[in-house]
Amino acid sequence: MRARASAAFGLAVPAIATAACSGPQSALDPHGVEAQAVATLFWWMTLAGALIWCAVIGALVYAGRRRRRVFSARAAGRIVLWAGAVTPSVLLLILLGYGLALMPDLRPASALTANDRLHVEVVGEQFWWRVIYHRPDGPPVVSANEVRLPVGTRVAFSLKSADVIHAFWIPQLGGKMDMIPGRTNRFSLQATRAGTFRGPCTEFCGPSHALMAFAAVAMDEEAFAGWLEREAGPAVRTEGPGLDAFLANGCGACHTIRGTPADGTIGPDLTHLGARKTLAAGALPNTEAAIARFVAAPEAVKPGARMPAFGMLPEREIAAIAAYLAGLE
Ligand code: CUA
Repeated sequence: MRARASAAFGLAVPAIATAACSGPQSALDPHGVEAQAVATLFWWMTLAGALIWCAVIGALVYAGRRRRRVFSARAAGRIVLWAGAVTPSVLLLILLGYGLALMPDLRPASALTANDRLHVEVVGEQFWWRVIYHRPDGPPVVSANEVRLPVGTRVAFSLKSADVIHAFWIPQLGGKMDMIPGRTNRFSLQATRAGTFRGPCTEFCGPSHALMAFAAVAMDEEAFAGWLEREAGPAVRTEGPGLDAFLANGCGACHTIRGTPADGTIGPDLTHLGARKTLAAGALPNTEAAIARFVAAPEAVKPGARMPAFGMLPEREIAAIAAYLAGLE
């Protein structure tokens, strides 16, 4: 009875554990070449681990049965040698070899010399992401808190940090890699299917580490080219009471809105804020109300955020700023 119960438990645990095999942040639902390799390795290791576990438990049950056969010392020695040393070593060597064989795919040398292709620079900051698209034909395109890439093209990433160690990971596409102050880490990703994924910061970087995320969007080549062209352009609205309030309160000292006098580079570029999937690096939905809430009290949404609070402004002024920013698609 007890054996049956433990067998049921043994089956239930993996069933529960694999219930989260999909979703926007699951490495087991790969949409990229690198993530596919990692997922394949994971399933092989799980299978091999399960087989070894079954063999060990089988041996344990066999050894614990009531009537035991007596082994000679020589036979016992052979069992220990083959089952205890040779077999595990060979299995581990096979898995190690398989893992090493996958590595050239995960860190292609082409990522370092991809002059002719798209190169995305991502800088981790407390607690957001500066994203710069370096195009082969045109000036860099500065954005923030969202990473877009074309399906089917290998995209080179250079990863940096402005303050402490962060880590960049898009579980469904591949990664992850640390962003270390004073250093540039490089890798590349290739999306195989379109979709929107979540990229979390995966190195503890301060009180809002868990609120530091970005949306990663893999788009068809043509849609991506169109998006990048729009993203490179100036803001769609370059006048109005919302912008006046934005500038009068000094927001332009930290934020850039291209096409307006706001040209600060301390905080995220807001030129096309309204078109982004999330607000405040994945912390809030991108709505007018959320923008107003964040402007009034950033610290309440993201503890440790460097943006000063503007809650002292009249409500209608904050509302005007929020309406303007939400309209920047
Ligand atoms: Cu940035 Cu954790």
